[in-house]
Amino acid sequence: MKATSAVLALVAATLAVAALNAQVDERPIPQIVKKDGRYALFVDGAPYLMLGAQVHNSSSWPAEASKVWPAMEYLQVNTVEMPVYWEQIEPQPGNFDFSMVDSLLAAAREHKVHLVLLWFATWKNGSQHYMPEWMKRDLVRYPHMVGRDGEAVDSPSPHSAASLEADKTAFTAFMTHLKEADPQRTVLMIQVENEAGAWGSVRDFSPAAQKLFDAPVPPELLTAMQVKAASASATWQQAFGPNADEYFQAWSVARFIGQVAAAGKAAYPLPMYANAALRDPIHPGPAGLPGAPGAYESGGPTDNVLDIWKTAAPALDVLAPDDYQNDPVTYLKVLDLYHRDGNPMFIPETGGPANARFFFTALGLQTIGFSPFGLDYTHRAASRSLNQADPNRPKEEFLEPWAMNYRLIGPMQREIARLNFDGKLQAVAEEQGRPTRTLPFGSWDAIVSFGAARNNRGAGNPQPAGRALVAQLGDNQFLVAGYFCRVDFRPAGTEEQRKTAAIVEGTQQNPSALIDGKWQHRQFLRVEEGAYDNGVFKPIRIWNGDETDWGLDFGDEPIVLRVSVATY
Ligand code: DGJ
Repeated sequence: MKATSAVLALVAATLAVAALNAQVDERPIPQIVKKDGRYALFVDGAPYLMLGAQVHNSSSWPAEASKVWPAMEYLQVNTVEMPVYWEQIEPQPGNFDFSMVDSLLAAAREHKVHLVLLWFATWKNGSQHYMPEWMKRDLVRYPHMVGRDGEAVDSPSPHSAASLEADKTAFTAFMTHLKEADPQRTVLMIQVENEAGAWGSVRDFSPAAQKLFDAPVPPELLTAMQVKAASASATWQQAFGPNADEYFQAWSVARFIGQVAAAGKAAYPLPMYANAALRDPIHPGPAGLPGAPGAYESGGPTDNVLDIWKTAAPALDVLAPDDYQNDPVTYLKVLDLYHRDGNPMFIPETGGPANARFFFTALGLQTIGFSPFGLDYTHRAASRSLNQADPNRPKEEFLEPWAMNYRLIGPMQREIARLNFDGKLQAVAEEQGRPTRTLPFGSWDAIVSFGAARNNRGAGNPQPAGRALVAQLGDNQFLVAGYFCRVDFRPAGTEEQRKTAAIVEGTQQNPSALIDGKWQHRQFLRVEEGAYDNGVFKPIRIWNGDETDWGLDFGDEPIVLRVSVATY
């Protein structure tokens, strides 16, 4: 009897594993797909939008990681970015310990979220602080950069063949392990290094680096940069003049990281990206010189060297900005610069509660993900300091501006990702001085206004917190959602009329347009408030009367509308 049940249990277990494998085997590896100039991250074969958050630098340790989840749950993220530390993974040369990776995988699965893992290795914020101790102690084999004055800099040399080999070997071992350990595809993407580049010197001035600097620029880079150098063997100085030092550093760092990424991808081809410590794109200071106004890290994928990075590191799918800019104009300029052909939009780090609304701007640029940084830490630190100042102030206050975004988008995340990939979606966030925005959708314009009172078109909210998205579901049907805004629709004529006829916009109670001498006025046929459930929109109630007489108003509640319009 006992033997029979043991056999049955074994058979059941074998079948369960086989079933799991069959199920798991079907899961495609996440990949970035391009269509009609737009990008999407495909997960389980369909577009996916990473509603992310990045934990603080030391929060991946198992004991610490357990504390990040309350904040992640409050935020309603679907993806958590967590670092993995080279010093922890390879404590002795060639001895790998992936227990930490496994514990992150288990925790993420338990909390039903995906992961983006951050390979903190040769570079972390421009330094080599996460290199294993045995490397840090061997400065000859694994050298630092050398500054112009001959002094060592707190940054790894991108010209060290031994460091490159060690990083490639460790990264390949990590990716090989991940491939084995994650048939479920819990991990969606890998960040290779972190904010690579250097503070303290514009480039490496070591003898090895100087030799390369005085040698001809690689021809593929001259082509990519469209430099017509006097000779095909132009040196860096001859080809790039005042930018030579910085471009050389960018090339050297990108070549190094590109090779690490390629080695890892050969083991397991997950999408990979590098993140940038930005320069101020409007008023940049000098590269690599801390202390100077506007100074920035030299050699990372800053906006001025994206072409260099694309040429030097083709294994990277994305060059992504860590957008912490305080000034909204600068913040948006960054998005604009990284939203370019050949580079999917992704914001792996951002901060500042006032910037939370720019999730919508990023959505409008088909971002594959958005991820505020360090909220688990803020959550705890804030609760500590706040408890002294005001014990009644809820600690969630710090999470709320970000949580609002995901609370609204989360239930329809796959539909939003698909509509965006299909080019059906537009989204905007409020900008000071732009209280009204027009989003063209063929024969309709969606008009978004911020701070609109009854019969006026909006003067801006007291704090610019408005956000709106509109997606076209059919010729005359739209999905509309947002916060602190009003959305309405105005007839925009046919394509032919837009080319040939003078269209005059009316400002009557209902948005109207004089098209080919005939007034066309918007009427709402049906405005349904509802929610997506398994990909199907389920109406909850119909808006009419006061709810629609002045347009569709959104406050601080997560509201989704399906709107059918017509003219009269
Ligand atoms: C950007 C880095 O990439 C993060 O790891 C972290 O250091 C944040 N800056 C700010 O703390």
